[in-house]
Amino acid sequence: MEKIKSYNISNVGEKVTINGWVSKVRNLGGLVFIDLRNRAGIIQVVVRPESKYYNLANELKNEYVIKVKGKIVERESKNKNLASGEIEVETELLELINKSKEIPFQISDDTTALEDTRLKYRYLDLRRESLKDKFVVRNNITFATRKYLNGLDFLEVETPILCKSTPEGARDYLVPSRVNKGKFYALPQSPQIFKQLLMVSGFERYFQIAKCFRDEDLRADRQPEFTQIDVEMSFVDENDVMELGENLVASIFKEVKGIDINLPLMKMKYDDAIKDYGSDKPDLRFDMKIMDITELLKKSESTLFRNTLDNNGVINAIVAKNASDKYSRKELDRLTEYVKTYKAGGLAYLKFNEEVTGSIAKALTDEEIESIRKYLNIENNDLVFVILGDYSIVKTSLGALRCKLARELGLIKSGDYKLLWVTDFPSFEWSEEEGRYLACHHPFTMPKDEDVDKLLTDKAHCYSKAYDIVINGYEAGGGSIRIHDEKVQETMFKALELTEEQIREKFGFFVDALKYGCPPHGGFAMGLDRLTMLLTETENIRDVIAFPKTASASDLMCECPNKVDEVQLNELGLKIK
Ligand code: AMO
Repeated sequence: MEKIKSYNISNVGEKVTINGWVSKVRNLGGLVFIDLRNRAGIIQVVVRPESKYYNLANELKNEYVIKVKGKIVERESKNKNLASGEIEVETELLELINKSKEIPFQISDDTTALEDTRLKYRYLDLRRESLKDKFVVRNNITFATRKYLNGLDFLEVETPILCKSTPEGARDYLVPSRVNKGKFYALPQSPQIFKQLLMVSGFERYFQIAKCFRDEDLRADRQPEFTQIDVEMSFVDENDVMELGENLVASIFKEVKGIDINLPLMKMKYDDAIKDYGSDKPDLRFDMKIMDITELLKKSESTLFRNTLDNNGVINAIVAKNASDKYSRKELDRLTEYVKTYKAGGLAYLKFNEEVTGSIAKALTDEEIESIRKYLNIENNDLVFVILGDYSIVKTSLGALRCKLARELGLIKSGDYKLLWVTDFPSFEWSEEEGRYLACHHPFTMPKDEDVDKLLTDKAHCYSKAYDIVINGYEAGGGSIRIHDEKVQETMFKALELTEEQIREKFGFFVDALKYGCPPHGGFAMGLDRLTMLLTETENIRDVIAFPKTASASDLMCECPNKVDEVQLNELGLKIK
């Protein structure tokens, strides 16, 4: 079989046979022009009045399937927006292969059809060039991944889909067992336990393009089933894994988009990322660091600041350069509502022009204003946003505002990529709901050497050998060095307040495996969907998944999830409550 061909000016004079769909058909001054679409793109076909196929050409409708034979000729009026825009096909044969019903929406890249309609007819939506192109990129990413990892002796191994629940922190999708009534499999949230077991087996270098399933609240960058480029390796430390990870990403960027990524990537500790950017996935395509002005105001007599200062709160600011005239009162109210969704009590602002105005201008003395001006390097027309209160709320809300402002002020250039590692994640996070510390990643994450002794006594200050790769404000991947020492694992379980019984029940087989000569190991998983989003510059994860789910986790095309009949339920020994 030959490769799929696309044609351009260099093919003039060639006789070709092209199969495809009618994208558009027009009769202009007696000539029939057909835009013929297939995998290779769109090409113009002409049928002249003297042709014996002229009547057929006039009867063609959008999305009819046709076959055309003819000669490639140079066009008189050229279309610069089309790869084949300088040529057309002079028809010598035209065959109608199949008709199409009238389509429910226009198949074009500037379609205005609702996403729900397009998802219901996903197979038609996928005929759009811009969508199809994203799957070409996705394919090229997996191809580049396999090429790179194969070259370094990584083995691609498949792990089970019907398995026991893996501790990744989301809810599991469960599958009832017919043979073992009342018992369930869980779909893997990731192949975490299996890839570690493969290290115990001595596979040394593993990877998998792995399907993962998580029943969690969906967002623009989350799907209930998604794909990871999952990697694990033995006899390595954090730096080895990060080096492999960034080289893999760099080779993907180079192979797929011809983009050179400067290595090694910058590393930023988690605590610094939160302090300076209010996020563990900082977008470094623009500056606007979060600045702490608590010290500058510590002598303030204004009750506004005193409350915060006396309660150990913080006062932080970000500067939107040259933006004071871009935000009206109404606009600022809109931003206030926005930060409130991140639990901020309010949003204060200062506009630095000839005069300093704004919601907190009156609460500040002239010296305080001057110290702020100096500390934040303020220039004329700068707009300063201030949030005060609890450290983590202040950071998170300013971090979110920072990204929103960057988008609104056009500070992000298309095609710009900023990558970094965020390292030294805390081992534990406090759960208000459960009233105890939970594992930040999973319970097999190795603590920093200096923190192993603190696991039971000072959980708030334990950090782990975990790292995330962040691209343009997205968590593109993450991983860690795992615990391979039985004693450390026991201490970790104790720190997580798991009883012997719970440990045995949840992952007894895994704890056993650690006792049989487990090598030091670590790895990571990249979100394949997110990498594809980044390389195709879309913010909608559904654009890069062929048959995606909606925000409420349904498939509008297959109409699932759906009810099943009594017979099936009975076989499984299930009853709907
Ligand atoms: P983690 O849970 O961080 O790590 O997932 C790794 C990467 O997978 C992507 N991702 C998702 N993409 C789309 N939809 C989702 N619902 C979703 N959830 C996660 C992200 C994320 O960075 N087993 C560990 C990896 C390891 O430690 O080796 C794990 O799964 O890009």
